[in-house]
Amino acid sequence: MWFDLSQLSPRDGYKLLSSTIVPRPIAWVVSADANGRLNAAPFSFFNLFSDDPPVICLGIMGRAGQQKDTGANIRARGEFVVNLVPERLAHQMNATACEYEHGVDELQAADLATAPCPTIAIPRIAESPVALECIPMRYIELGNGRMLIAATVRSVYIDDAAVLDRDNCYVDTPALGLVARMHGRGEYARTSNLFTMPRPPTPPASS
Ligand SMILES: Cc1cc2nc3c(=O)[nH]c(=O)nc-3n(C[C@H](O)[C@H](O)[C@H](O)COP(=O)(O)O)c2cc1C
Repeated sequence: MWFDLSQLSPRDGYKLLSSTIVPRPIAWVVSADANGRLNAAPFSFFNLFSDDPPVICLGIMGRAGQQKDTGANIRARGEFVVNLVPERLAHQMNATACEYEHGVDELQAADLATAPCPTIAIPRIAESPVALECIPMRYIELGNGRMLIAATVRSVYIDDAAVLDRDNCYVDTPALGLVARMHGRGEYARTSNLFTMPRPPTPPASS
């Protein structure tokens, strides 16, 4: 059956889309406000959109007519860190989604240590095996308080234990043990139980 989203409430549209566009990777974003107060929150409207330039996008929803702290902070500072989420940190990631008042440091609330980044003033989550230093390049207002942020990735941290070959940039992705968001309010997927399918060969040129 087809669902005409223009005839449905936004809530029902969200249920249909977020239940089917799965699994979604989780950007665990660390940002800071103009006074340098840190903030952390997860975002699953997130993915890689270009490799050259290296660009990721984040979809940030509104909150009762106001911006979420993450969106406001990214605009204020022009830099942020995306950390990826291994299963062992899933509960702490979830804890940072709590709708705290502005100014509450979710990193402290979730008992998460940070480590400095090489070129920006925002730290990464120390326990996360992957972190991306991000510089916003476009803010796209989507309407209804929703915003898409496209950002270039300046540098990537990967836990040494998951780097197979530094010179050739080979990563042991399964060793990262990352999780992704699924349907509903609390379903998640592991990035395991994989299967392999080589890309098809380039077809011979027709004469
Ligand atoms: C796994 C997960 C994914 C989420 N994805 C999004 C998202 O893509 N966009 C969004 O606006 N909120 C998302 N949220 C909710 C935010 O994390 C939540 O509103 C948070 O309090 C925002 O914090 P902030 O105001 O400090 O930015 C998600 C929550 C969870 C647990």
